[in-house]
Amino acid sequence: MSERRFTGKRALVTGGGSGIGQAIALRLAAEGARIGLVDLSPEGLASAAATLRAAGAEVSTHVVDVADAAAAAAAVREFADTAGGIDIAVTAAGFAEVAGVLDVTPEAWRRMIDVHLNGTFYCAQEAGRLMVAQGRGGAIVLVSSINAFAPGKGNAHYSAAKAGIATFARAAAFELGAYGIRVNAIGPGVIRTPLSAWLTGNPDPAAAYTAMTPLGRFGEPEDVAAAAAFLASDDASYITGHLLVVDGGITVGIDFIPQG
Ligand SMILES: NC(=O)c1ccc[n+]([C@@H]2O[C@H](COP(=O)([O-])OP(=O)(O)OC[C@H]3O[C@@H](n4cnc5c(N)ncnc54)[C@H](O)[C@@H]3O)[C@@H](O)[C@H]2O)c1
Repeated sequence: MSERRFTGKRALVTGGGSGIGQAIALRLAAEGARIGLVDLSPEGLASAAATLRAAGAEVSTHVVDVADAAAAAAAVREFADTAGGIDIAVTAAGFAEVAGVLDVTPEAWRRMIDVHLNGTFYCAQEAGRLMVAQGRGGAIVLVSSINAFAPGKGNAHYSAAKAGIATFARAAAFELGAYGIRVNAIGPGVIRTPLSAWLTGNPDPAAAYTAMTPLGRFGEPEDVAAAAAFLASDDASYITGHLLVVDGGITVGIDFIPQG
């Protein structure tokens, strides 16, 4: 990594104990940022923190369920107190679950919305408050999904939560631009992490998915990390309220003409 766009910056990453969140934290750290990792999993946090420290990063860890409003906001404040401020907040905490529209229970629906949409809101709101108080602007990057606009069968609750995140990014961008705070979202396609292992590790559906993907492969966490680092950096200084799709092109069109 030759570029160091985040020297002196303080970046909080939720869901930093695994997959996409960990890769984003690693990328921001590789470019100079001090990192705060927030996650539900103490084991995930310990492992991710060890990986980041081995790469030379300065890291603090915060075990939190982001669905707990008070605890999520407290973790954001705790990181800012430890690091002397906050310049970047990335929300990647989440999980996937299959449940049909007719079968999803109220409890499952609520937990999905609580973790993804509400958890994103709690962390982004507190980060925004701190950034406004600091008076130096900031960048907030929310991990949504292509399911925000292209839902899959069996994930109405996930898709609705991700659509909420994408629209929240636009709404927050609208209000926070006046403070020099940019708010953007990322819409990953299928990225090879523990969350998607049921698909990426299953030969038949995996082959069908990659065959439908113009770039012919699943995404890697580093693909999303590069996009998140771009949105968090001054390279994106005039971009706010955007949903940046990182999906190898799978949502660009429908291939209905038989080939051959
Ligand atoms: N992997 C994909 O294909 C894909 C595609 C689109 C969007 N996403 C989104 O990317 C984000 C990261 O997913 P991933 O693929 O890296 O999955 P992952 O399972 O590898 O990582 C998710 C992390 O979030 C943490 N987490 C879950 N619930 C939490 C909670 N309530 N509070 C705090 N931490 C919590 C988990 O402990 C885990 O460390 C998620 O929001 C997911 O919806 C993933």
